[in-house]
Amino acid sequence: MSPDILLISDLDDTLLGDSAALQRFADYYSTVQHRVAIVYASGRFFESACHHVQTTDLPEPLALIGGVGSEIRRFPDGEPDSQWIERMSDHWSAERVRELLASEPDLQLQPEDAQSEFKVSYFFDHAKPEQLERLKTVLREGGIHSSVIYSSERDLDFLPEGVDKGSAATFLAQQLDFDTNRVLVAGNSGNDSRLFEHKFWGVIVANAHPELKRYRTDPRVYLSSMQRADGVRDGLEHWLTVISKRRVSSSV
Ligand code: GLC
Repeated sequence: MSPDILLISDLDDTLLGDSAALQRFADYYSTVQHRVAIVYASGRFFESACHHVQTTDLPEPLALIGGVGSEIRRFPDGEPDSQWIERMSDHWSAERVRELLASEPDLQLQPEDAQSEFKVSYFFDHAKPEQLERLKTVLREGGIHSSVIYSSERDLDFLPEGVDKGSAATFLAQQLDFDTNRVLVAGNSGNDSRLFEHKFWGVIVANAHPELKRYRTDPRVYLSSMQRADGVRDGLEHWLTVISKRRVSSSV
């Protein structure tokens, strides 16, 4: 039987961060894996996500949406999605982004292992929306069309326009043949917010930042009272029950 639900979950402080909770998640997942396929959507890149799959209880996913949406790679071979790469190449150059933002006093470049051809990341503490808007304008005037993602009052990612976890999730779900109604997303911070803007089912873990908790009023979103991987397990259980009941009532 092929899985009928696709779980697209963030890693840091969502599935990762509490190893006992992750083990409880993995135990539960082993009982429903015939119904649920997994994809991870992370700020991390493939190699780092792979390392966690190999060294923790994280179940092996079908694919990874890495670098906040700037890479889509299949597991376990790491084959990058060439169509996604093609989509990102317009009006974009990571080098030019760095050049244009080089003299911005509030920005501190993140370490090199957080950077790629399609992701330029900085630290910017307590940025205000208008400050982010200004940076986006600086880039636009320099010929760069960007997607600006701010998380945890600190992390600032610049990606090619239209690229984020939500657009990558939509693209990948289509490729894997899951329609919107069969996708469940889980997260905890700002870089997950776009996952919650595509009418997927959603789970927000209890330890989430306010920037994500604002999606709690959406009837398709469940705010768990549990933290990290316990919250994802709780949310998965919740939505599997709801989705099964809908099926039963729509078949009578
Ligand atoms: C991860 C990435 C970092 C990014 C942050 C928020 O921590 O390593 O580069 O800024 O996620 O998206």
